[in-house]
Amino acid sequence: MRIDIISVVPELLESPLQHSIMKRAQTKGLLEVQVHHLRQWAVNEYGQVDDYQYGGGAGMVMMCEPLAKALDQLMAERRYDEIIYLTPDGATLSQGMANSLSLKENLIMICGHYKGIDDRIRQHYITKEISIGDYVLSGGELAAAVLVDAIGRLLPGVLNDETSALFDSFQDNLLAPPVYTRPADFRGWKVPDVLLSGDPKKVEDWRYEQALRRTRERRPDLLQDEG
Ligand code: ADE
Repeated sequence: MRIDIISVVPELLESPLQHSIMKRAQTKGLLEVQVHHLRQWAVNEYGQVDDYQYGGGAGMVMMCEPLAKALDQLMAERRYDEIIYLTPDGATLSQGMANSLSLKENLIMICGHYKGIDDRIRQHYITKEISIGDYVLSGGELAAAVLVDAIGRLLPGVLNDETSALFDSFQDNLLAPPVYTRPADFRGWKVPDVLLSGDPKKVEDWRYEQALRRTRERRPDLLQDEG
């Protein structure tokens, strides 16, 4: 999968995507992330990409021209499945959305700043608007990093144990069950016997029950979705 990200602060995207699982995904050639500085397509030699908003009011708006030029250039090079704008008024990111985006081949992500982008770009170019939660960040970069991570770890071959993403919280609308590692007794705090039983069926049943219990206690709304 290839992801192109358009940003006015590309530095913000460097570190989160260059370590751990996202690094491995890129080193293995399963994920290619290209970050583009919007100022390449600025309207003048001062690097201008934003302007005052029509109608007055505080805060600058990202201009049409730099974004349109950036998108035209990228879209002339390959076909993109989605052009995503990260914005707090988009649809809230869910595991289901990450699952379906992980099946795509080429994605563009646009990181907003200031008051956001000129609405004409949203109307004419953007195919999906995504928020990572009901709070406002100072720009879309961290949201884009979250989205790349949520998608990237689902690509086949990225996680060592192919099955592990299947048991994440939110797959099947259930939270993940509790997990334990050695030692079996730490300060008298014991690992549940069933996990030491060596009986895979019992372990599986226990994990399912625990997942269900956790979900009922913490996120009953997830179970209601199931009807
Ligand atoms: N940009 C600013 N806040 C955001 C959020 N919550 N989600 C996505 N993009 C954003």
